[in-house]
Amino acid sequence: MNKKILVTGGTGYIGSHTVVELQNKGFDVIIIDNLSNSKIEVLDGIEKITGKRPEFECIDLCDESQLSLFFKKHSGISSVIHFAAYKAVGESVQDPLKYYSNNLISLINLLNQMKIHAIKGIIFSSSCTVYGQPDKLPVSENSPIQLANSPYGNTKQISEEIIRDTITAKQLENCISLRYFNPIGAHSSALIGELPLGVPNNLVPFITQTAIGIRDQLMVFGNEYNTPDGTCIRDYINVTDLAKAHVIAVERLLKKITKKNFEVFNLGTGTGVSVMEIIKTFEKVSQQSLNYKIVQRREGDVEQIWADTCYANKELGWITEISLKDTILSSWKWEQCLRTKHTRF
Ligand code: UD1
Repeated sequence: MNKKILVTGGTGYIGSHTVVELQNKGFDVIIIDNLSNSKIEVLDGIEKITGKRPEFECIDLCDESQLSLFFKKHSGISSVIHFAAYKAVGESVQDPLKYYSNNLISLINLLNQMKIHAIKGIIFSSSCTVYGQPDKLPVSENSPIQLANSPYGNTKQISEEIIRDTITAKQLENCISLRYFNPIGAHSSALIGELPLGVPNNLVPFITQTAIGIRDQLMVFGNEYNTPDGTCIRDYINVTDLAKAHVIAVERLLKKITKKNFEVFNLGTGTGVSVMEIIKTFEKVSQQSLNYKIVQRREGDVEQIWADTCYANKELGWITEISLKDTILSSWKWEQCLRTKHTRF
């Protein structure tokens, strides 16, 4: 089996954890990243954990001429895992064209080059956001796709359609679209983790940055939702558990054991957890109280969503292993390392 995998966005948060798991399983990884939301030093972390530095090319996928040169230089790639995309929901509402152009042009260029170089399979980084606010919980892969709550969410829906049409036209053989719920946590070594540049949009990095003193106060976006404690509910999945599902998905592509040419899997834990429960868990594992206040709801937030994981568990033979407590503790350790020893970031 040819084990050379291209990982776009491989220095990013989920990308870097996936590169670690791929290398741990003997895959040869080449990363493309334009470093627009990540740092080159992430490669040092990956090398320390796995003993191997992945190949790296600083390329913007929106530039097809650069991408074409890349594929001419690197032959023998068997599959692609495509993470590279913008992902801030709020920013996408403010600047939709930035999101549509970056997330869609990069995908189109990539598929075009894959077609030219006869690379048959892609793992696509999708999101539970494609389900909008579902009528029925938990959401399964058969739950209806609803009107996207944000341009970011819409880019994920459109991307899945673009890939599907490319497969129908026989210009691509296979895709496994992985719909992530809320990835959190850091590698257990605390050598890689989430590295938001600027003010974090997501809950857990905002919590850890508040606790360490970079932010004054966490704002909890609304406590009058129709949930037991009034705060929104999400399915928070450990990033290493998530990364391992990508390795299984790549093996599935390469062994040609997919059941359909376009497969979809929900990647979550199957458990819904509220914002307040995350705060309480953080306070417990970090043994400190967090400064937070309740503010207005955030535009674009869905009230509650969590995954039906039965299909992914059965079909991929994959389950999440790391508890919420350990996951939040890993985020806290990573934050502490970032601000002390690893000042290189
Ligand atoms: C969203 C997308 C998800 C995407 C992710 C990428 C939806 C439904 N989900 O996740 O697909 O992969 O962004 O960034 O669009 N919160 C606070 N205070 C904060 C930050 C967050 O209270 O400072 C709350 C939010 O209101 C939400 C929860 O924490 O209820 C989680 O928010 P966040 O971490 O931003 O992720 P999502 O918006 O769920």
